[in-house]
Amino acid sequence: MSWLERVEKELRDLLEPDIRLVLETANYLFDGGGKRLRPLLTVLTCGMCGGDPEKAIPLGVGIEYIHTASLLHDDVVDGAEERRGRGTANRVFGNEVAVLTGDYMYARALNLFTQHGNMEMIGIVSRAVMKMAQAQVLELSRIGDLISEEEYFRIIDGKTGALFGSCMAVGGMCAGTTNNKRLWEIGIRLGRAFQLIDDLLDYAGDARKTGKPVGNDLLEGKATYPLISVAKRIGAEYIKSVLRKQNPSRDEVESLRMKVIEEGGTELTRERAREEIEKVQEFLKDFPSNDFRDEIEKIINFVVEREL
Ligand code: FPP
Ligand code: MG
Repeated sequence: MSWLERVEKELRDLLEPDIRLVLETANYLFDGGGKRLRPLLTVLTCGMCGGDPEKAIPLGVGIEYIHTASLLHDDVVDGAEERRGRGTANRVFGNEVAVLTGDYMYARALNLFTQHGNMEMIGIVSRAVMKMAQAQVLELSRIGDLISEEEYFRIIDGKTGALFGSCMAVGGMCAGTTNNKRLWEIGIRLGRAFQLIDDLLDYAGDARKTGKPVGNDLLEGKATYPLISVAKRIGAEYIKSVLRKQNPSRDEVESLRMKVIEEGGTELTRERAREEIEKVQEFLKDFPSNDFRDEIEKIINFVVEREL
């Protein structure tokens, strides 16, 4: 079995809920797809650093539970209707069941860390969730505003970078490595690149591949990198007038989305993501060159070139 297949199996086996509806809601998300990048990175980092990757599987699965919990909650907060090509869990099972299943998954993740990890790892992942939740609050509080690049990176480092940082650090700690700070930084930068591409796909992705409609961020009044990078060329006042509208029309959003693409916002975003990835590749050279590192490098390339 490949590491991906092992992760996929344990993802379902380790959840162990007593209530059928919790299982149904969780399986609904797992069956919808997902790339399992976080558990794979955890397992592969452990292997790269000379540890037994098998031991990292429940830890990687715990991190994927945290990720899934955050998506369940995020879709309720965003009032999102579609994810992974189908109705969101909040639409199918209702907000209450979606939030509570997220709570269960987050608790099960920490519980797995008590069984298979240690206090230091629990410190890392719980702090990552503190960062994620606060970044989400910061993002919400800035809806309707044209935020600066600096603020944008503060938000994405928290909402996405911190969990990627945890994957790398926990994987390394599982192998007994002491270079965790560097691993954390690799994860933060990889998460940054991942979120930049996520935000690019919100402008110019193929909804059949991403499973999410385009233009959502603008519709929600969120300024992300593609827009921020060309804001001067488009004009701040016009942008703010669209972002601040309570119910902007599809046409208004579409015309701003097209302007961002015409002005090169999506290309600038991919370039920015590639810059982060170059740093990641440079930092990775400090770690042993083996099959696990090769696999991590494949994931890294996928992150910037992906269409889903
Ligand atoms: C998706 O962002 C959301 C996140 C990356 C993080 C969400 C974090 C929380 C809700 C706080 C942590 C909570 C728990 C229970 C661990 P997005 O809306 O930009 O992406 P999307 O287009 O995929 O929705
Ligand atoms: Mg969302």
